[in-house]
Amino acid sequence: MNNLPPLSAPKITVIGTGYLGATHAICMAVMGFDVLGYDVDHRKIGQLQAGVVPFYEPGLPEKLQEALTSGRLRFTTDLDEVAQFGDVHFICVGTPQAPNSSAANLTYVESAFTELAARITHKSLLVGKSTVPIGTAARLAGMVADISPLGPALEVAWNPEFLREGFAVQDTLHPDRLVFGVASAWSESMLRRAFEPLLTEGTPLIVADMPTAELVKVAANSFLATKISFINAMAEVCEATSADVSVLAAALSLDDRIGPRFLKPGLGFGGGCLPKDIRAFKHRAEQLGVGQAVSFLGEVDSINNRRRIRTVDLIRELAGGSLAGVKVAALGAAFKPNSDDVRDAPALDVARMLYLEGAAVTVYDPEANTNAHRLYPDLNYVDSLATAAEGADVVALLTEWDEFRSADPDYLGGLVNHRRIVDGRHALDAGRYISSGWEYRALGRPYQAKAAAPSAVPQRDTTPNLAL
Ligand code: UGA
Repeated sequence: MNNLPPLSAPKITVIGTGYLGATHAICMAVMGFDVLGYDVDHRKIGQLQAGVVPFYEPGLPEKLQEALTSGRLRFTTDLDEVAQFGDVHFICVGTPQAPNSSAANLTYVESAFTELAARITHKSLLVGKSTVPIGTAARLAGMVADISPLGPALEVAWNPEFLREGFAVQDTLHPDRLVFGVASAWSESMLRRAFEPLLTEGTPLIVADMPTAELVKVAANSFLATKISFINAMAEVCEATSADVSVLAAALSLDDRIGPRFLKPGLGFGGGCLPKDIRAFKHRAEQLGVGQAVSFLGEVDSINNRRRIRTVDLIRELAGGSLAGVKVAALGAAFKPNSDDVRDAPALDVARMLYLEGAAVTVYDPEANTNAHRLYPDLNYVDSLATAAEGADVVALLTEWDEFRSADPDYLGGLVNHRRIVDGRHALDAGRYISSGWEYRALGRPYQAKAAAPSAVPQRDTTPNLAL
């Protein structure tokens, strides 16, 4: 990608510097645009100005350095400066689940749009990137037109974001598609200019109206969540029989129409997106009178939550029927590897449930201990795998970090009190653990006695990599 957008390149602002906004601001500057990032959080802005990414995201610190050194990226807490600077404003604030409801909390999005709109005095475009219920963009466009000194000349567009934590840089600099939700040819032309380097590279573009663009995002996340819950539902069926869900997943994934991605059974999905997005979508569909069309998302959510409970059951079974006083090494707290995000994290939820049943839980996550401690200060956090495993009665693999996948079962076996492991993510080599004397259990896989002969992977090495 060349770093020289045309001289007419729009000036970019990014409102909200969380996982999405910080990545977007940094990557737009790396692509060659002049970018001003804004947040109400002075601490976060101070860190970014000092070249520190406030969260864990592989590759992003290097890109931040590159962008700051180029002189094209600045950060501010002054919204007047943002209003004056930008031609295209990307709103990237959070839409968390509302308290005591499955709806999305739109307070931050609404105030970002209206506060900015009240200050903008030159023709520019407000672009929402946050995940919102269908119809939000049109509603915001009305609010903006009412409040703006420019009236309806201040336009709104929607540009949903599909980046995954852990791969945020790659997904932003080389997305698999761009979606523009626009209400006018001018909005489309502004977005084309803002994404010119990606379009020149050949990134597929879908231009849609705003409701369709909003729907693309929630439909995509709903599909991914459904695929994960589908294989986890099959795991439940396997548990009632002697079938093995990992062999089943391997066989299904060889069908091109199904494919291997997001078909990994285990503890299920979490994070700041999939769980709250399917709930908010279902809620919105009910408001629209089409709740029945997506009522299955309630089941997707239930299947997912049952995996957490079933993981606790497995650990209890392995401990001999009670968790009281049992020392459990909980490996992982983040909702997935290569992230320090613990929002709705299955791993942390399991650790909390174990603790509530009286287990002595020791949690170790390579990056998420600090965030986890903030959320659940009562759990015992340690700073190494060895310390977590020391004297454990049961080891529970809850987030599949490479450090855990590559751990030597013999070495770990020398640290624990009992060689018992629950592989909550189907991430370990069962055969190696069993042959080194561990009792190995995984959701949806038949119980295999210690040192039982073959592992349950298929005989012919057709096991595809169920990459995420
Ligand atoms: C998700 C989507 O994948 C992104 O496309 C989207 O942009 C983002 O939400 C968002 O809405 O902002 P992310 O939350 O980073 O991205 O995480 P995923 O990689 O989708 O993983 C979600 C969860 O599913 C994790 O807890 C992961 O462990 C779990 N998972 C994933 C499985 O249990 N099995 C699988 O096969 C795949």
